[in-house]
Amino acid sequence: MLLLIIALAFTTGHAAAQSGKQDYETYCAECHGSDGKGNGPSLQTIPMNPPPSDLTQLAKKNGGKFPFDEVVDTIDGRKNIPSHERLQMPFLGTTLQKPGEEFTPESDAEVKKRIESMARYVESLQRK
Ligand code: HEC
Repeated sequence: MLLLIIALAFTTGHAAAQSGKQDYETYCAECHGSDGKGNGPSLQTIPMNPPPSDLTQLAKKNGGKFPFDEVVDTIDGRKNIPSHERLQMPFLGTTLQKPGEEFTPESDAEVKKRIESMARYVESLQRK
């Protein structure tokens, strides 16, 4: 049992370290591009208006400070006002919930962690 807990703790920690990039590749890169510049492969097939934002410029546009909380909210999607056009963006705060345990505190906490790692990964893509 103890071993299992240790093994689990290790896997979770490891996954958390990796998952920001992995989740970005899975959920964001198709539109925003692996480099974040906004020309992912989906643009070849889906016309997008407005086009996906250049995610490497978020800090620059925000006076040099990466808008971490806003990016988290944007990825989550649940806090966005529907009138603010975001038809193309997935609502990961809902999509990533554990099947069968949606919106339980545990599931919510896990979703929050994944979204925060994605936001941190986006932060690492910033350019001047
Ligand atoms: C299906 C295409 C698509 C996917 C997938 C997608 N986005 Fe977007 N994203 C867009 C488009 C288009 C916009 C600009 C207009 C809008 O809000 O709809 C945008 C806007 C944004 C913005 C706002 C940028 C600004 O200038 O304020 C952020 C931040 C963002 N996306 C991050 C992400 C992240 C992180 C992911 C992955 C979790 C993601 N997006 C997945 C299409 C997409």
